[in-house]
Amino acid sequence: MTKYARTSTVLAAVVLLAGATCFAQGPGEATYKAKCQNCHGAAGLAETGMAKALKVKPVTDPAVSKMTLAEMIEATKNGVGKMPAFKASLSEAEIKGSAEVFHSFIK
Ligand code: HEC
Repeated sequence: MTKYARTSTVLAAVVLLAGATCFAQGPGEATYKAKCQNCHGAAGLAETGMAKALKVKPVTDPAVSKMTLAEMIEATKNGVGKMPAFKASLSEAEIKGSAEVFHSFIK
């Protein structure tokens, strides 16, 4: 009984740890999926219907692929063209994280 209790405590700790690691991998990824993917596509290729409607450029477009991470963070904060500014709705960390995810799609 005691042994069983100890085993399940260890198990619970492992599960908690796995959950924490998963979260640490990125508010960025989660934010990108929730807030950006609709318009920019899962890999930034602007293949979604929304992307086509708004004429979003894919990351393969030279105008996008030459952008630095800092410029992308700026764009996300303040908006570009038809893209809304996110500084009011997302935290600094979420903006930076999702811009990093988007930037990482540049080959
Ligand atoms: C409502 C649709 C929409 C959403 C949601 C959206 N974007 Fe955009 N985004 C655009 C449009 C439209 C542009 C400007 C057109 C263009 O040049 O691609 C743009 C441009 C950008 C640019 C400048 C580079 C580029 O493609 O021109 C970055 C960086 C960017 N978005 C990042 C993000 C991030 C990060 C998020 C999520 C936090 C996000 N966007 C959410 C529509 C959107």
